[in-house]
Amino acid sequence: MGIHRGRRLRRTAGIRAMVAETQLSAAQLVAPLFVIEGSSTRTPIESMPGHYRLTPDLAAREAADLAALGVGAVILFGIPNDKDSQGTGAWDEQGPVPRAIRQIKTAAPNLVVWADVCLCEYTDHGHCGVIGHHGVDNDATLPLLGRAAVCYARAGADVIAPSDMMDGRVAEIRAALDEAGYPDRTIVSYAVKYASAFYGPFREAAGSTPKSGDRRGYQMDAPNVREAIREAKADVREGADVVMVKPGMPYLDVVRAVREAVDVPVAVYQVSGEYAMLHAAADRGWIDLRAAMWETSIALRRAGASILITYFARELATRLSGQPLQDVVKV
Ligand code: PBG
Repeated sequence: MGIHRGRRLRRTAGIRAMVAETQLSAAQLVAPLFVIEGSSTRTPIESMPGHYRLTPDLAAREAADLAALGVGAVILFGIPNDKDSQGTGAWDEQGPVPRAIRQIKTAAPNLVVWADVCLCEYTDHGHCGVIGHHGVDNDATLPLLGRAAVCYARAGADVIAPSDMMDGRVAEIRAALDEAGYPDRTIVSYAVKYASAFYGPFREAAGSTPKSGDRRGYQMDAPNVREAIREAKADVREGADVVMVKPGMPYLDVVRAVREAVDVPVAVYQVSGEYAMLHAAADRGWIDLRAAMWETSIALRRAGASILITYFARELATRLSGQPLQDVVKV
């Protein structure tokens, strides 16, 4: 009989591929895009190499490229010129996100378009809801989120993805969509979103850092995992079609726990700080970026996520399509 020879299943690339327990496919990738007002303009996001703030026309071009590579979806974040206390830009039909949705639907009709719903990019104070006497006012924020969701659905968004972490927003958004004639639109809830240090580059990109205080009063606390299950189940009860865990790498146990607790698909968001961190280490020659990209992505899938929201979507899809990365990716 002899010893256990595990190496027999690792000897060649072909054998390793044959026994791989986890697969990654481009159709399950969601690429985040930051959309600004105007046209024919892009500005680089310093802390996120390869990513830009794009005007709607350029976002549509990028989306068409991603679709050609097989990437399943894009998720849009708006960066308006003007902000106010109520975040009214979030439901402006002529805002960057509705414009981008319409143009993407023309340029890449089969690409799934997600719209992030939150007020933080649109409020002058940078919080995810309106401010009341006792901080961020949960219930006063809900109808505003409903309005934003309907605005994006009207523009053509397939998926509404609320990231604000107000209680009851999934039920509110579901009701608003149904009432406006969009019972067919999917809700992907950021059900399990932790207050995290890893959102730094995103907030720089979107100019959405809170002017005072922090988000700990509404986003989740890192020590908790049972609470994640409660959040996920509550959102499913309210009508979420998919639940998301965010960030990714520091919360793999949470992805696994949520996967086992609910039977809707689970999405995970490998956030801006995770992307920036991998790039920064690679820039110094300390890690191999492409190997780390692959390993972290497969780890998120292995933990139980079906859908990956990742700033590496383009690179991953390029690799999956068998093209040499250097030709397509400007790292
Ligand atoms: C908006 C929102 C944030 C992210 C996604 N939607 C920022 C935040 O909550 O501060 C973070 C995404 C990332 O870091 O890549 N609420």
